[in-house]
Amino acid sequence: MSTAAPPHIRVDVLLDSHDEGSLAEAVRAGLLGERRELPPRCLYDERGSELFDRITELPEYYPARCERAILNRYAPEIVTSMGAEELLELGSGVASKTRALLYAMAGAGTLRRYVPFDVDPSVVQRSAEELTALYPGLCVHGLVGDFDRHLGELPEPAGRRLVAFLGGTIGNLEPEARAEILRALRGLLREGDRLLLGADLVKDERVIVAAYDDAEGVTAKFTLNALRVLNRELGADFDLDAFEPFARWNPAESRVELGLSARSAQRVTIGELDSAQVEFATGEEIRTEVSSKFTPERLEGELREAGLALERLLRDDQGLFSVALAAPAGAEPSANGSAEALAGGAA
Ligand code: SAH
Ligand code: TRP
Repeated sequence: MSTAAPPHIRVDVLLDSHDEGSLAEAVRAGLLGERRELPPRCLYDERGSELFDRITELPEYYPARCERAILNRYAPEIVTSMGAEELLELGSGVASKTRALLYAMAGAGTLRRYVPFDVDPSVVQRSAEELTALYPGLCVHGLVGDFDRHLGELPEPAGRRLVAFLGGTIGNLEPEARAEILRALRGLLREGDRLLLGADLVKDERVIVAAYDDAEGVTAKFTLNALRVLNRELGADFDLDAFEPFARWNPAESRVELGLSARSAQRVTIGELDSAQVEFATGEEIRTEVSSKFTPERLEGELREAGLALERLLRDDQGLFSVALAAPAGAEPSANGSAEALAGGAA
């Protein structure tokens, strides 16, 4: 189904009426299960995307700043070395850092199409409009879908394809889901295509925690917004004041864990889950998100497992964040070995 739009913009909605059901099912499995957690989809409605946008501008939130610096610096090399004609971006959001890539593709004269893919329709539409205004002649084929389920429904490539998965979103997936999506991404690449993967690096715990527990409390609002989504989408009656957002480092898993802790005993009714009741004891938690931090070795290993060869691991000046450039393994013999690529690609 396509929405009416100018000829160079097309937006397909892959989520269908079953998906409300599947949100309900995901919430049922998460909230009524042993360990309480919410699917990340609850975080990104229109308000959630706006709050996330504000997170990316916080002084403590180094990932966005660092990733932007990396892309601004290396975009021309990346796109010219492979002759990228199409940029396919998963979890594209407002696509602000993406512009460096599109700009470089336009500069190289190869830019043909941008394919943003996100679960939030508002950001897909907005970025399509903004980017076609910025790059006259650019075709945008937006997709509203869930990257856990709809990667098989993407359009045929319009040419040599650069697949971008930025923002450290890969770290928001559990290890199994991560392996699965990396394999699916591998499946989107043909010979000559490349994957650009933004992944946050292990570092001083204080720097990491500050990024997710910001002084202004924007992240706290973002986390609480998940309850607002449940109240609206599933007719739940969460009292937002009764839950306290948390963000803490789990060293054993090398990740930040974010969620909400009940300030006092609570009973919540979820209308559209057959009015199921969920009880919370004081201090009981709901996890909303994890954000894993990687070592270069682990990243390379996970890519390799998925059939992807790390070509370069680009880093910002402070070495806080990384963007991995990977090729489908076996498609082209890699000139430099992986250890060399790691050393040579470090910025
Ligand atoms: N790439 C942007 C946004 C990162 S935030 C940046 O780097 O700033 C993560 C984005 O992924 C959000 O826009 C969110 O709506 C989207 N997202 C989260 N889960 C998703 C899913 N399962 N399928 C598709 N998009 C998803
Ligand atoms: N991919 C981002 C990250 O892990 C997503 C994110 C940023 C996030 N801040 C958040 C997710 C706060 C949940 C809560 O850094």
